[in-house]
Amino acid sequence: MQKKDLGIIGMSVMGKNLCLNLERNGYFVSIFNRSFEKSKKIVIENPKKNIFCFDNLKEFIFSIEKPRKIFLMIKSGIATDQIINNIVSYLEKDDIIIDLGNSFYKDTIRREKHLETLNIKFIGAGISGGEMGALLGPSIMPGCKKHVYNLVKSIFLNISAKYRGSPCVDYIGPNGSGHYLKMVHNGIEYGDMQIISEAYFILKNLLKIDNKKISDIFDKWNKGELNSYLIEITKKILLKRDKNGMYLLDLISDVARNKGTGKWVCQNALDLEAPLSLITESVLYRYISSLQDERNKASKILYGPKGLHIINNKTNFIEDLRRSLYFSKIISYAQGFSQLYLISIKNKWNLNYENIAKIFRSGCIIRAKFLNNIVNAYKKNKDLKNLLLDEYFSEVLCKYQNSLRNIISISVNSGLSIPAFCSAISYYDSYRSKKLSSNLIQAQRDFFGSHGYERIDSLGTFHTIWI
Ligand code: 6PG
Repeated sequence: MQKKDLGIIGMSVMGKNLCLNLERNGYFVSIFNRSFEKSKKIVIENPKKNIFCFDNLKEFIFSIEKPRKIFLMIKSGIATDQIINNIVSYLEKDDIIIDLGNSFYKDTIRREKHLETLNIKFIGAGISGGEMGALLGPSIMPGCKKHVYNLVKSIFLNISAKYRGSPCVDYIGPNGSGHYLKMVHNGIEYGDMQIISEAYFILKNLLKIDNKKISDIFDKWNKGELNSYLIEITKKILLKRDKNGMYLLDLISDVARNKGTGKWVCQNALDLEAPLSLITESVLYRYISSLQDERNKASKILYGPKGLHIINNKTNFIEDLRRSLYFSKIISYAQGFSQLYLISIKNKWNLNYENIAKIFRSGCIIRAKFLNNIVNAYKKNKDLKNLLLDEYFSEVLCKYQNSLRNIISISVNSGLSIPAFCSAISYYDSYRSKKLSSNLIQAQRDFFGSHGYERIDSLGTFHTIWI
């Protein structure tokens, strides 16, 4: 029997779509799933395609051309370790396992080290784009040894999304860097979703306009600086009607779930001492959203300001809101990319931020027109510590800040919850301040704990007997 070019384990929708993508690109694909029925169904549904299913793991592995390339498209965590343990006994020197799940980057580092002792190569690749991305072309973020990447590079180039002809995949760096980048991508995804939701909430509650009108506003915004996949889908979501004719969005519970990658990026931000405030607010908002019972009770006893602010000039208000969204988006990406800068130094990953922004331009969930501005910023200065220091971004922020201040004051005075917008302006005001209030924190630390402080008029560490 002719050997197959590669194998995929895990036939959930993502695995299935990736399999169809690979087959469409000319590869003969062996597939394996815990339940054989699922694999069989895929083969039956796709007759005359070069997809071959197996119900025996050993036969699946032996059906693949050596050195074998085995893609894992399974739930991250214990399941990934289990499947690796199950297949290693059949693998041979130089076979390659490619984990495409949303794995935690420290697990990826551990797995690569362990598999190296068995002479098996390992790639931890983040992929983004959801179900359609897997089928039509995702954005791919592979982390591994460079020579291992070169062994599968052509496959990645073929199946990835293309932005104006250029593939949305590139070598990210060693070991866990690909999965780390995917984790930051997801954090940015949380931030984007949060600020878009806050803008929607403001339009709905302060302007009191219906979903169709809000959708029209998003449609207009999507034609300019804010152009992005998430704005595009929001405009469509707003129009979707339920069977009874009501807008579906109005019937959806406000409890936002998560699968944990947002939490990881915030936890790591704290470890790195990286001020990832906007994304963290977005994660916390999901947690507060899940306190539904408490919120219900609290809504009966805790009241906000009486009455909503009246908006006289709606056109100006909507433009202020558009600018607030763009301002906050810039802050969110700046924080995400600054965190990448810190981890890259810590782990000696030598990340290329220009290329990272390039591979986000198509295929992935955070694809957006303004990524080209990020590409340009890093093209000018590959070691830029923070996007806020780039000329284009600093100009926009200086110009748009008053719009955000206006939107925040009206919304807060009306009692609306808009934590990500508030966090964007706080970060901006902290980052641009030559002098912060933390001299007092230093004095307090020294007062109660003799922790010492530095002075602005002399070098060294000082301690004062305060009383
Ligand atoms: C992607 C997405 C995807 C992510 C989901 C769910 O890039 O395709 O980031 O990988 O898992 O969006 O994330 P939450 O359940 O945590 O919202």
